[in-house]
Amino acid sequence: MAIKRKIKELLKKREIVFKGGGDKAREKQVAMGKLLARDRIRALMDEDSFNEYDLFVEHEARDFNMDKKTLHGDGVIIGTGTIFGAPVCIYAQDFTVAGGSLGLMHSRKITKIMDHALKMRVPLIGINDSGGARIQEGVNSLAGYGEIFFRNTLASGVIPQISVILGPCAGGAVYSPALTDFVFVVEKISKMFITGPEVIKTVLGEEISMEELGGAKVHAEISGNAHFYARSEIECFDQIKKLITFIPWNNSQKAKSFEPKEPKPEYKVEGIVPDDPTLPYDVRDVIRSIVDDSDFFESQELWATNIIIGFGRLGGKTVGFVANQPLVLAGVLDVDSSDKAARFVRYCDAFNIPIVTLVDLPGYLPGVDQEHTGVIRHGAKVLYAYSEATVPKITVILRKAYGGGYIAMNSRHLRADFVFAWPTAEIAVMGPEGAANIIFRKEISEAEDPDKARKQIVKEYKAKFANPYVAAARGYIDSVIEPLETRKLLLHAINVSDNKSVSGPKKKHGIPPF
Ligand code: HXC
Repeated sequence: MAIKRKIKELLKKREIVFKGGGDKAREKQVAMGKLLARDRIRALMDEDSFNEYDLFVEHEARDFNMDKKTLHGDGVIIGTGTIFGAPVCIYAQDFTVAGGSLGLMHSRKITKIMDHALKMRVPLIGINDSGGARIQEGVNSLAGYGEIFFRNTLASGVIPQISVILGPCAGGAVYSPALTDFVFVVEKISKMFITGPEVIKTVLGEEISMEELGGAKVHAEISGNAHFYARSEIECFDQIKKLITFIPWNNSQKAKSFEPKEPKPEYKVEGIVPDDPTLPYDVRDVIRSIVDDSDFFESQELWATNIIIGFGRLGGKTVGFVANQPLVLAGVLDVDSSDKAARFVRYCDAFNIPIVTLVDLPGYLPGVDQEHTGVIRHGAKVLYAYSEATVPKITVILRKAYGGGYIAMNSRHLRADFVFAWPTAEIAVMGPEGAANIIFRKEISEAEDPDKARKQIVKEYKAKFANPYVAAARGYIDSVIEPLETRKLLLHAINVSDNKSVSGPKKKHGIPPF
């Protein structure tokens, strides 16, 4: 029968396309420790949920012998599927086909699935594994990238955009991931750079390996371009799946609620903050002692570690945490930690995720290096992001809240909805030693025993300011609470803020200190 013959023909055509760049290229991919593009999609999606489109798209390039080349699927796979039942749009570049390089039709496949994701208001996942702009296609490749960047920007804050770097991501190609919300990298596999080692050698005469220049660790620890770091592709896919459970499908929805769970008994909120205010502690222990099932999903874990950001749940609902980390640089705000916090606050605000801020910091980091690298500009991003955010915003001051740090970390003055403070909170313009040296410099230097005089003044200053009660007396803090009461009060605050609605003056958009 004709239909049987035609089905056979279709299956044969599919089989050819599924071979990608052929056996040799596929073997090379596997030998590099990389999964093949379709296997990546299958590993990420719910079983049998993936549907592929544009399988038979072909390139139209004619120069440099391209008219004699067949590039199956033009080096990229696009489609839709589900992750834990949540619909997603996805593309995955196939390095076995012309190095996953991006030509016109390749880019049109990507922009087609991007348009679909935006129209359907579902998350978009892009798996990058490519040699960049297809050199033979000239300006058409550049046009393709431009169309992608434009859509990344259009979709920003409307649907979640996730980039996965599973191979090279070179040249201008890096800017699509950089425009998306979360970038995932994998040890030894991910490589991101604007100009590769060859160019650096030619232009600067410096030798550097691809790994040292833009490997996974570089972007997870040094540049801050990556948000999640994994040791294998499978671990990376598990991280993506977990992220999907914490975020909504789009900006008009809330993240899915789960069955509430108590924190695990081994995480006790009391006794984490040491009695001596100069001693550090890991603020993640405080978060784990508060959130459901002690499950805290940290983002940018290895970069700007003086601030901690990530997702947890309170009473089954997703919450974004921003917390100073006293373990690193006493939890100060500096150039990088300000960027990290501000961007996360904006993410949570765009996607209806309430923000809980845990405060313990001596202020912004002083120093020539910080001033010259723009701590004023970067620090202002934190003020801007918190002031602008209209999702429920709750603050708990655990210990130090000095100076600009007090204001920046979601203070009442930036419109926090609830501000709680532990009895250990110290809220002042600066720490006691520094303050005494400045305002009583004359008294100290003229005293018979300057050391004794300084100690006395510090003691008086501490008694007056190293507590939460002066701020509580002005109503800047709503409640001074026992650490043990924290979870109960946060659950309550999240619940009563569920229908929060505020709006600012009408404007096209603000001008944040980018
Ligand atoms: C066309 C490309 C290609 C490209 C790789 N290939 N990159 N074809 N355009 N950009 C092809 C190779 O010719 C080869 O084809 C196949 O893909 C596999 O590549 P290999 O070099 O054999 O693989 P490998 O040794 O693993 O090296 C991978 C690589 C290297 C590091 C990515 O291929 C490379 O350096 N490529 C060029 C990277 C680059 O400079 N891209 C342009 C950036 S400029 P055959 O047929 O031999 O199998 C850019 C501007 C965009 O992207 C601006 C947007 C704003």
